[in-house]
Amino acid sequence: MKVRIKQLTDEINALYANTMDEVEILRIKYLSKKGEVSALFNDFRNVPNDEKREIGQLLNDLKNLAQDKINGMKETLSATGKMEKRNDLTRTAEPVKLGTRHPLMLVKQEIAEIFSRIGFTISEGPEIEDDWHVFGALNFPPEHPARDMQDTFFIEKNPDVLLRTHTSSVQTRIMSSQQPPIRMIFPGRVYRNEAISYRAHCFFHQVEGLYIDKNVSFADLKQALLYFAKEMFGADTQIRLRPSYFPFTEPSAEMDISCNLCGGEGCAFCKYTGWVEILGCGMVDPNVLKNCSIDPEIYSGYAFGMGVERITNLKYQVKDLRLFSENDVRFLEEFKGAY
Ligand code: DAH
Repeated sequence: MKVRIKQLTDEINALYANTMDEVEILRIKYLSKKGEVSALFNDFRNVPNDEKREIGQLLNDLKNLAQDKINGMKETLSATGKMEKRNDLTRTAEPVKLGTRHPLMLVKQEIAEIFSRIGFTISEGPEIEDDWHVFGALNFPPEHPARDMQDTFFIEKNPDVLLRTHTSSVQTRIMSSQQPPIRMIFPGRVYRNEAISYRAHCFFHQVEGLYIDKNVSFADLKQALLYFAKEMFGADTQIRLRPSYFPFTEPSAEMDISCNLCGGEGCAFCKYTGWVEILGCGMVDPNVLKNCSIDPEIYSGYAFGMGVERITNLKYQVKDLRLFSENDVRFLEEFKGAY
């Protein structure tokens, strides 16, 4: 009996009606002769004598509560024509949609953190550039194919204004404005006039690295890149440097890491070679230092540049580059909690 009284008390406390008709329905439900409260009064005779006093009191309170509640609702409705809208505090909360960080930004951040642990600071440069900073100062000969209209987006009517095709341009800006020691990375977006497909896009992201000081050697470069590869892809990762050519470095190299999917055994991803290429690097060409007013007799340095999309693909096996710029939340949500 006590349990039932408690239930009804809670129920009545929570009653709510929008119209007089609804109030009347509730009145009948609880207070009419066959109503729920009256039913309890009928059961009262079965209550053991020693409990009658206590239960009788509870029943009277319940009845008063129901009457007060019904009268209260009637009064509010006749005064205002409507009940005040009430918040239902028991309703399940709407799930809050949390955004996720973009995979490219997660990876960019991770690259930056790894290099910051070995003393690199971060700087950025403009995306809209001039020929000198993107090509000229970086030792590109005037007829170099990279300057070609097919690769570079030029601003109409002024071929000296262009969208940078690589973040190496930030090297020349920094070196022209400060003297060594310089130990920095330059993350940023770059643009190339390429047809968009699963493996190429007209914009993508790079992180450039530059270290200029006295007595910087190729061994320093190799050590820094080995550290990066192990931090990024796991302690078992190995690297190899293959001779290559870039106008702004001499000697130049491309760096492969042991395939992080098969551990170097050979698989479809690494085309059964056990290695995948991740970046270009080399010792900064003395001509570049000179172009930026740094004395190559005193200073030497290394530089490297990597594609953020490439590193992200290796880490997360994203097969189609276009996914990075489509803003499909189903794709983006896969990186929830990735970092
Ligand atoms: N700028 C080159 C590119 O976009 C990448 C690169 C290669 C950067 C060698 C460097 C470097 O700093 O030393 O393909």
